Amino acid sequence: MPKNKTSKKTKFTSKKFGEDFVWGVSVAAYQIEGAHEKHDKSPSIWDTFTSKPGVIHKNETGDTACDFYHSYKEDILLMKAMNISNFRFSLSWSRILPKGIGDVSARGIQFYNEVIDFCMEHNIIPWVTLYHWDLPQVLQDKGGWTNREIVSWFEYFTTVCATNFGDRVKHWMVLNEPMVFTGAGHFLGVHAPGLKGLKNFLPAIHHAVLCQAAGGRILRERVSGATIGTTFSCSYITPVNKKKKNILAAEKADALLNRLFIEPSLGLGYPVAAAPILKKLKKYIQPGDLEDAVFDFDFIGIQNYTREVVKHSYFIPYLSAKIVDAKNRNVQTTVMNWEVYPKSIYKMIKKFNAYEGVKKIIITENGAAFEDNVANGFVNDIERRKFFKQYLKQVYKAKEKGLKIDGYFVWTLMDNFEWAEGYKPRFGLIHVNFETQERIVKSSGKWFAKFLKP
Ligand code: NOJ
Repeated sequence: MPKNKTSKKTKFTSKKFGEDFVWGVSVAAYQIEGAHEKHDKSPSIWDTFTSKPGVIHKNETGDTACDFYHSYKEDILLMKAMNISNFRFSLSWSRILPKGIGDVSARGIQFYNEVIDFCMEHNIIPWVTLYHWDLPQVLQDKGGWTNREIVSWFEYFTTVCATNFGDRVKHWMVLNEPMVFTGAGHFLGVHAPGLKGLKNFLPAIHHAVLCQAAGGRILRERVSGATIGTTFSCSYITPVNKKKKNILAAEKADALLNRLFIEPSLGLGYPVAAAPILKKLKKYIQPGDLEDAVFDFDFIGIQNYTREVVKHSYFIPYLSAKIVDAKNRNVQTTVMNWEVYPKSIYKMIKKFNAYEGVKKIIITENGAAFEDNVANGFVNDIERRKFFKQYLKQVYKAKEKGLKIDGYFVWTLMDNFEWAEGYKPRFGLIHVNFETQERIVKSSGKWFAKFLKP
């Protein structure tokens, strides 16, 4: 039958993805809460790190950030008005356990109870990340992620969270992007706690892998009906050209950036064949650890923004692989200097689908920072709208091809503290004036609200 020319093309909206597809937005405690000394809260490694001059863009800190601690009601109501029905946020460990372990702060628990309850009153489902990079400084003083004792500290923290919030919170993520907090924080020294070198990086990797599974087990034990996941940063990696040495360099980068944390959790061990440097992890692996690293996650959260082009380089110690700066590649980039490359998200969905043990995949972060301008009370962020449409079309393509893909969370609800880059990169669907705390829903936010409209 010939197609009826007058029939309207079905609009590209959330409905196309089916009823069960999960839609939401993501944030993290240190990036939005502020109130860094309020009530019982003790400093986290990010409070300490940001107080050092010269490490963060313009020496900015998360002391106040979006002041979500005080404005959570308004922000959740805005979310509601934007038809957002799932809210991913993280818990500040040092707000809940000011001594890292031991005494629980009733005020800390109360804050998260209020956030959870307020979400639920407005039919917004809370998705909680246990650890989004803000380790209590008191634990850092004992070695933090480089100290194997972190496993029992983390188990304690997880138990406290599960017992206090597990009656209402049924969607959990154990760690946020372990590659970033170990790599940027313990190898490159550009994130908290500012440590460098393999002697910090390697133990941090292995202990994060152990905590990832240990946290999952505690949630399984303590929270009835919990859906348990964990999240990974990932980027499609391509070699700069087809030369053998560049292909090998790309494989190494892929092993470190995309495979390092998921494979031990699936019982596949560390990807040492592709990245021989990981053989040095042996020093930290005790008998039984590789079995303990396994956990049967209900879903895997993948966080994708860009792709990386990789080339061989003799100058990079241990790796001999180097990322080619997007600036030198003549491509569209964001304020983070990340290439806009929508196909990357499709490739990553496909890559994680290929693991037999992965049951469900949710995009727990995707988004972009562009220069936003406020004009007459409006922010017309055309580039961000376009970014979302392009990336979402790739997510849809994956779904159409029958790949597992079960949800999508935007990074992020509102502009916030972007770690070492401070407040410069704005990723939000909502514009935040950090002097007045005024919020303006950007045109991308309005577009997303329409896209989600039931
Ligand atoms: C990854 C992190 O989880 C989040 O904290 C960060 O702000 C975004 N990506 C953007 O860089």
